[in-house]
Amino acid sequence: MKPYVFITRKLPEETIVELTEKFEVKMWEHEDIPAPREVMLAEAKKASGMITMLSDKIDEELLSAGENLKVVANLAVGFDNIDLKAATERGIIVSNTPDVLTETTADLSFALLMAAARRIVEAAEYIKAGMWEGWSPYLLAGHDVYGKTMGIVGMGKIGEAVARRAKGFGMEILYHNRSRKPEAEKEIGAVYSSFEDLVTKADYVVSLAPLTDETRNLFTADVFAKMKKSAIFINAGRGPVVDELALYEALKSGEIAAAGLDVFEKEPITTDHPLLELPNVTAIPHIGSASTETRTTMIKLCCSNVKSVLTGDSPKTIVNK
Ligand code: DGY
Repeated sequence: MKPYVFITRKLPEETIVELTEKFEVKMWEHEDIPAPREVMLAEAKKASGMITMLSDKIDEELLSAGENLKVVANLAVGFDNIDLKAATERGIIVSNTPDVLTETTADLSFALLMAAARRIVEAAEYIKAGMWEGWSPYLLAGHDVYGKTMGIVGMGKIGEAVARRAKGFGMEILYHNRSRKPEAEKEIGAVYSSFEDLVTKADYVVSLAPLTDETRNLFTADVFAKMKKSAIFINAGRGPVVDELALYEALKSGEIAAAGLDVFEKEPITTDHPLLELPNVTAIPHIGSASTETRTTMIKLCCSNVKSVLTGDSPKTIVNK
């Protein structure tokens, strides 16, 4: 009998041929609606391999249901949705999709920064709503990007790629990270900074930090209070690193100027969320790596990792070595 692989969203058939050629493969029927928990548990019970999304909760209960489960390939670089310890204890290999999404996610992070700084979304809504009655000097005036200071919190590969873009805009670059990055300091001229110094000095505070016990709730009311009044906060990492109520208060009271958010504490964010009422919030639905090319490459990398594990080879991008 062929090993069984379950994919938790509907993906284009042509992107998964590497699996369908060799294994019995089933995909959840919807592209945009997650599989209910009971389906996930029943499928995990049968599967030797799973391809999962960052929105799937792959916890101990699900992993123990997976009596034959050997590999979970997560379609994301982040893997905070997976109980890594529980997977490792059961000998289940977890893989992710680093590198292939670095530049695409950096493009989006910078686009979000530009949109928040120059009020692009607000301006586009303004014109479509028929509000443009005439040119005026300060109409939808935003903030300069060129020559300003960017502070990057979480200087992984995506952080470095964002820093390279910032260098092209003549920006000063500060960064804060678990460890120093000598190559980034040399190549890009990024300057290591304490977290406190960074949030105090940066015009653009860009969070690309992964979600860990150390980063959860890192951006609190105290932190926003330390930022410049003109600061713009960008989050393209993970939502729960931010106290969203504190961010809302800081934006509403003018403690900081604006925010560009690709990620949220709870996703999808609901339309009645207070952050979405604010004109100085540019909010987008977790699309960091969402270019067609990159998403296809990510899917193929997941397929390759699943195939490798199920045929006794080493996967390319394993997380729990
Ligand atoms: C990921 O893959 O973890 C990021 O959120 C990019 O969208």
